[in-house]
Amino acid sequence: MNKRTPLIAGNWKMYKGCRQAVETAKTLLELASEVKDVDIMIAPSFTSLYLVGNILKNSNIKLGAQNICYQKEGAFTGEISTSMLLSCGCRYVIVGHSERREIFKEIDENINKKINAVINSGLIPVLCVGETEDQRDAGDTFKILDKQMELGLKDFFAEDLKNLVIAYEPVWAIGTGKTATDEQAQESHKFIREKIEAQFGKSLAETIRILYGGSVKPANIKQIMNMPDIDGALVGGASLDATTFSEVIKYK
Ligand code: 13P
Repeated sequence: MNKRTPLIAGNWKMYKGCRQAVETAKTLLELASEVKDVDIMIAPSFTSLYLVGNILKNSNIKLGAQNICYQKEGAFTGEISTSMLLSCGCRYVIVGHSERREIFKEIDENINKKINAVINSGLIPVLCVGETEDQRDAGDTFKILDKQMELGLKDFFAEDLKNLVIAYEPVWAIGTGKTATDEQAQESHKFIREKIEAQFGKSLAETIRILYGGSVKPANIKQIMNMPDIDGALVGGASLDATTFSEVIKYK
């Protein structure tokens, strides 16, 4: 068994207005406030961050954002900076989610700039990587992961990345109910850890947390968490309901 503290993170995506977000956060806090040996994070939409941040203040549930602008401030209409996130109480930022890569055409070079901005601000980046179904069918899974890691983490040193979290989210398993098998997930997580070792050395590879994402729910979390290189989960659909998400958090 590894010594990495598991992280269970909820990505609420573009769901919940302010009132719903507050209600869900309050209920989750009641249900999960006793959990000690698992780190917990929820990432509501930008518009709810401040309100949810106030509810989670001084609790064991940390606040995350779903995206970030790599600029510090300025004339960047519609964008959100790291200092704005910090002012809402954020600790984590999800970067390079496949929905941003696919739908909003986010490229690795910008993801790299975002990781840099997040690290420089003291926030914790959660870098998402993962292959599409076509890429997997073509046998390109490792090639894609290698490229996303190489470009996303270009020009960093190991000491910059000591808090980095990586989320492996096979695109074909997101929101589809099709979870990767434990072996498929483990194989990719092992590849990612070996890639970290080759790029940044053994020490970072041993401590870095690699989360699995893609149709994680109470029924499959325990099995997923049994895999040696899986250190937690990034949960979409099953994080929207506080009771369901608390069952994922309490998987042990
Ligand atoms: P689902 O859990 O809904 O498949 O979403 C996974 C995800 O994209 C989390 O970031």
